[in-house]
Amino acid sequence: MENTALKVLFHRRSVRQYTDEKVERKLLDTVLKAGTYAPTGGGRQQIKIVAVQAEEDVAEIKRLNAAVTARQGDPYYGAGTIVLILAYPENHNADLDGAAVCTNMLNAADALGLGACWINRSREVFAGEGGKDLLRKWGLRDDLVGVASFALGYIKGEYPEPAPRREDYITVIS
Ligand SMILES: Cc1cc2nc3c(=O)[nH]c(=O)nc-3n(C[C@H](O)[C@H](O)[C@H](O)COP(=O)(O)O)c2cc1C
Repeated sequence: MENTALKVLFHRRSVRQYTDEKVERKLLDTVLKAGTYAPTGGGRQQIKIVAVQAEEDVAEIKRLNAAVTARQGDPYYGAGTIVLILAYPENHNADLDGAAVCTNMLNAADALGLGACWINRSREVFAGEGGKDLLRKWGLRDDLVGVASFALGYIKGEYPEPAPRREDYITVIS
């Protein structure tokens, strides 16, 4: 496989172990910029990306996310950076736009040698008062809708292998 973009698409996996090191700003900025170049419905870009590295706020997002399912442990696997993908409430393509933006950033992270893992439950976190308190603290609209989020960090341990692909994944009608 020679093409660099395709190499990344086939290589990227969900990383669930991170070092303690904080992702350096230049790499973070590149990942975030990749999100802004994702396709969005009507090209309206009605998505807000928030990268969180402040320890207190990272801890609060982890606490709120874990509380959604009342599960123990860190749902972000020890990552020191959390990227949130939120949608403006007027966005009728919130989930689709958010997924496209999130996926672009996950692939960009891989291209830069970083690890990332999509983490669910953002909708519940930012529908609740705890999430809205964070949005207000950051000077953002508190009616932003949580669509997706991901853990971001330097990879610790072995890089995961892909699961086998479904044999009936693709049909080509020609
Ligand atoms: C909508 C969505 C939600 C996900 N939520 C979580 C999550 O909460 N926690 C987690 O560890 N992985 C989560 N993942 C990652 C998937 O488990 C992962 O993409 C899948 O197992 C395939 O593995 P790969 O990403 O390594 O190819 C999520 C992925 C998607 C697309």
